[in-house]
Amino acid sequence: MKVTVVGAGMVGASAAFAMVMRGAASEVVLVDRNRALAEAQAQDILHATPFAFPTRVTAGDWADVAGSGVVVLSAGVGQKPGETRLELLGRNRAVFADIVPRVLEVAPDAVLLVASNPVDVMTAITTELAGLPPARVIGSGTVLDTARFRALLGEFLGISPKSVHAWVLGEHGDSEVLCWSSASVGAISVEALALQHGRPLTADDREAIDKGVRGAAYKIIAGKGATWFGIGGGIARIVQAIAGDERAVLTVSTLIPEVEGVTNVALSLPRVIGAKGAGDALWPELDATERTALRHSAEVLKAAAAGL
Ligand code: LAC
Repeated sequence: MKVTVVGAGMVGASAAFAMVMRGAASEVVLVDRNRALAEAQAQDILHATPFAFPTRVTAGDWADVAGSGVVVLSAGVGQKPGETRLELLGRNRAVFADIVPRVLEVAPDAVLLVASNPVDVMTAITTELAGLPPARVIGSGTVLDTARFRALLGEFLGISPKSVHAWVLGEHGDSEVLCWSSASVGAISVEALALQHGRPLTADDREAIDKGVRGAAYKIIAGKGATWFGIGGGIARIVQAIAGDERAVLTVSTLIPEVEGVTNVALSLPRVIGAKGAGDALWPELDATERTALRHSAEVLKAAAAGL
């Protein structure tokens, strides 16, 4: 499948690189207003293809977006140290108002994959700008937060994060909801497994893992200015699920008619991802604390979108 990445900065380029390393796309086109950057990123990634999967990687302009099955939207600006994702909204909204119509003019059937922050509100904006059904406008959402949660739980339990089943829902941001009550390793709750390992999961352990997930981006940004490998990997995973019509369950953001009483808000739920984009939403069993937190997260995002 042909994939276009609009925005050849570190997030877009990392996503393109991750697609090559996973064999998620047969062709990747990088589009950026800075053509020299797009060319350089495309060449650099192309030189990695012999170590991975044969993938055509080029820089292009709007005409080259034609035929893309997925268009990744990673253009815009990133968080400054200490800046929240929601504070980026005004700057990135203007960028998308320009690029979304250009993309759909040449790739009207593509699934749009929004990566720019604040990704949930940007997903809602893109859905409105595109006039597409919500299923075809997917935000990377909490796919990365879920990965972080699984990675930190795996580290605590001493097992592969691939064997940990745990979700983060709601905002890709400060109000996100870590679903502790359903976190498990197969049919064993993480709490029960921790006890079996003789290392009970204490309140302090939970707090440390929560901070590790919720604060990951701030810490990384403070150290290197931005994040890109984690989100690049998450984008590539979503692309692979679409390209392969996998019907894989991933926590991604789309416009949802109603969540915990909040209507018409974009946030992350577990979704069945396939060729047509985001399929059914899965509604996990949440405990009272998690339901309250999810409603709060929906309210935060609704308010942010209303402030446009
Ligand atoms: C992060 C950025 C992608 O969480 O928001 O790393």
